[in-house]
Amino acid sequence: MPRLLTLSRAARLVGVRRGALQSRIRSGELAAFEGMVSVDDLLRAYPQARMEDNAGLEHFEAIKQDAFARRMRERLLPSTEALVARLAELSAERAQAQAQTEHYRGIVEQLQAKLRDQGDAGLLAWLQQRLAPAAQVGQPLLAQESLLRIMSAHVEVKPSGREFFVDGNDSLLEAALRSGLSLDYGCSIGSCGKCKARVVSGQVYRTRHADYGLTAAEKTAGVVLMCCHTALTDLVIEAREALGARDMPLQTIDARIKSVSPLGDEVRLLHLQTPRSNRLRFLAGQSATLCLADGVGASLPVASCPCDDRNLQFHVRRDAGDGFAARVFGGLKGVETVRIEGPRGEFVLDEASPRPLVFIAGESGFAPIKSLIEHAMALDAAETLHLYWIAHGTGGHYLDNLCRSWSDALDNFRYEPIAAQRALPDDEALQAALRQVLRDHPRLGDSDVYVAGPAPWASAAEFQLLEHGLPRAQLYVSPLAP
Ligand code: FES
Repeated sequence: MPRLLTLSRAARLVGVRRGALQSRIRSGELAAFEGMVSVDDLLRAYPQARMEDNAGLEHFEAIKQDAFARRMRERLLPSTEALVARLAELSAERAQAQAQTEHYRGIVEQLQAKLRDQGDAGLLAWLQQRLAPAAQVGQPLLAQESLLRIMSAHVEVKPSGREFFVDGNDSLLEAALRSGLSLDYGCSIGSCGKCKARVVSGQVYRTRHADYGLTAAEKTAGVVLMCCHTALTDLVIEAREALGARDMPLQTIDARIKSVSPLGDEVRLLHLQTPRSNRLRFLAGQSATLCLADGVGASLPVASCPCDDRNLQFHVRRDAGDGFAARVFGGLKGVETVRIEGPRGEFVLDEASPRPLVFIAGESGFAPIKSLIEHAMALDAAETLHLYWIAHGTGGHYLDNLCRSWSDALDNFRYEPIAAQRALPDDEALQAALRQVLRDHPRLGDSDVYVAGPAPWASAAEFQLLEHGLPRAQLYVSPLAP
């Protein structure tokens, strides 16, 4: 029976994206059995993974940590409880494998004796030749797999079948959000009971005293709070997930102003922080209404990733006719909190799509695109991500360095800044961008395209992309207030 690995674990093992494995499975280069791959097939597809050290894994981790500055935190070791449980599980598997090996050894010895008795020298010679120790090419990979199993636990979520890893002492909820899953939750501190999940198999460990009382029946059924438990061993859990924007509840939260900082001359980064126990649950690409105590407000796309649901970023563009922008550019002096109402909007990633992703941002339409890209990176499933950012003026590409760092760190990410000669809508710049997109993606219908920017420009882009044959179902547009 070949040793089978989940796609997530196999991808970690050979240091590639999960999407890259899926792509090779789709093209027939890599065999898969019910969503799993064998170690032998994996080695055939990635022969370089035979290396004895774990440089591939370190490289992969370094890429992820460099690309996500906010995640640059020391990777915590699993707790003693987790280490003991995982070692115990591996020891039990090893003991079982050893017992099986001894059983087979006995059968082979009996077979050899019978062949000798019957004088079948040809078959005996063949058997001895086959039993000679062969080069164990898969051994280093299996050793790395055991190490990974000790350092992190793999979790499969039913019924969706989505997977994530729990590193260190992260709660199940934290680990799931970091991996781009949209599980149902509320307070994150064990008070509301919204993050209930049933443990189907595996062991969990309580990391936070939960105030929320589970009923005796729930406890008997193996229900736990994901914000209060971590994984001791690999798990299968049943949990509710948001399947789309309509599953997101409308929330109202008073958030603290963490900072207002310049992103070039024309844009300010407004960083709001929600209370620890009342975070904004949203999908990447969605918007929220921000309102000051005197009623001045604006609807803005969230520019950060849902995986950091406490620290919300917004890109506010200078606009003489926009009272909220004027207050932000004035530094929001004397203002302590901003009321957030949201999320709203259906400009969200089609996570089920296997197609390459093309993002076209116009000016500060980059904000929701940034959120989508960060989410796509967390999901780690897209084959390629290409960003075209059209902006005018010095500093128009106000997070150029961030885009370049993505491009440097990830081999499946490409960034094309396109300079417009005047403020959007600038038809020439749009035509230049579309020419570039079509040069890079001559079969545009094979991709999903996400467009965000000032409303008139976004509508023009939408019209032209459809004219070029992009199916409507693969085009997602977010027109923003000009
Ligand atoms: S999110 Fe409220 S109890 Fe876990």
